[in-house]
Amino acid sequence: MAQSFANLLEQDKQVIAPLYGKADINFVKGEGSYLFDDQGNKYLDLVAGIAVNGLGHQNAGIKAAIVDQLNHFNHISNLYPNYPQIALGKKLLEVTGFDKAFFCNSGTEANEGSIKFARKYFNRKGEGHRQKIVTFVNSFHGRTFAALSATGQPSIREGFGSMPGDFVHVPWNDVDALKKEIDGNSCAIMLESLAAEGGVMTLSKEMVETINALQKEFGVLVILDEVQAGVGRLGTFLGFEKYGLNPDLVSLAKGIGGGLPLGAVLLKQKVADQLKPGDHGTTFGGNPVACAAGLSVVEQVSNPALLKNVEERSIQLRSGLSKLVEKYAPILSVRGEGLIIGLALDEKLPVGNVIAAARDEKLMVLSAKGNVLRMLPPLNISAAECEEALEKLDAAFAKVVK
Ligand SMILES: Cc1ncc(COP(=O)(O)O)c(C=O)c1O
Repeated sequence: MAQSFANLLEQDKQVIAPLYGKADINFVKGEGSYLFDDQGNKYLDLVAGIAVNGLGHQNAGIKAAIVDQLNHFNHISNLYPNYPQIALGKKLLEVTGFDKAFFCNSGTEANEGSIKFARKYFNRKGEGHRQKIVTFVNSFHGRTFAALSATGQPSIREGFGSMPGDFVHVPWNDVDALKKEIDGNSCAIMLESLAAEGGVMTLSKEMVETINALQKEFGVLVILDEVQAGVGRLGTFLGFEKYGLNPDLVSLAKGIGGGLPLGAVLLKQKVADQLKPGDHGTTFGGNPVACAAGLSVVEQVSNPALLKNVEERSIQLRSGLSKLVEKYAPILSVRGEGLIIGLALDEKLPVGNVIAAARDEKLMVLSAKGNVLRMLPPLNISAAECEEALEKLDAAFAKVVK
């Protein structure tokens, strides 16, 4: 089965649609916080499958849950109650205080669900004119049409023709712009609790207060896209808990499936009350194997010791990174919260150069919009591994900063 890398990359070019820039690396195994390539190199993985592998590679609990479910069945369809789905739903509602769960397969689908449920909510209440959804400039909500229309990055909408209407984007943390767009005819405010792809931008206190006030005054729904920031990544099970928002709908994906494709929408009762069979659906959503993995993830991530580790490792990494800000002039600032951490770089130092230098040091990191270096370590990363990451980053910057 072992294939040479050159052969694999060539086959990838011939077979796979050219939608991604692929790195010339052949990972053959993951274990905990590390990835191994076919040359025997060991990399510290601060990409974690872009915030998917929250419990690292080959987590024993996830593995056991998957194998156990495979011994029952892979799939039965949403025509029948599905025990792993119910068990995961119960656990999620218990941990989050929400009232109902809908399962799908990805982040964009979770957002499509949230958007449809918000629109249907007003429609069933006889207020179908309330369609306007306000989101934020540079936000990222996914690649399907409504999620794309919600996404505040015009460049990724280009060339795809007309988009679903009534989406408006206001600048991040601009309370006056948001206030101007929201009134008694609006449907929802949709946001990430931390704009990750958009440049690792945190929410201001004033914005949180404004959203809470607009929700109260106009009955506008609040949709939290927690696809990247949810499931423990900010040090609380759901990211918005840190900020004191009170969403009516929450979209989850990425980390919740332990590496299997799984998304979810959490709903408040008043929204769920307006939904009926046939309003929405999916063949694979809530797949039993993915949900079995998801239950193991939620059980492990909701453990206070794990969430404490996120907070402690965040402090450790951010304090170490602050020293790099002092040492290397092109590093402008440390951004983020929990284990979504960014380094804003001067435009003279392209983030791609740092990513390449880090890889030479056997450290995997990624970028975010605005020349930001992004790190998404596994939530159970150890203190020693964080020290190792800081040393490798220091060595990488030493190479690229002239
Ligand atoms: C905040 C946010 N929402 C939605 C998505 C889309 O998720 P998916 O790629 O699973 O469709 C992403 C993916 O990066 C994301 O970060």
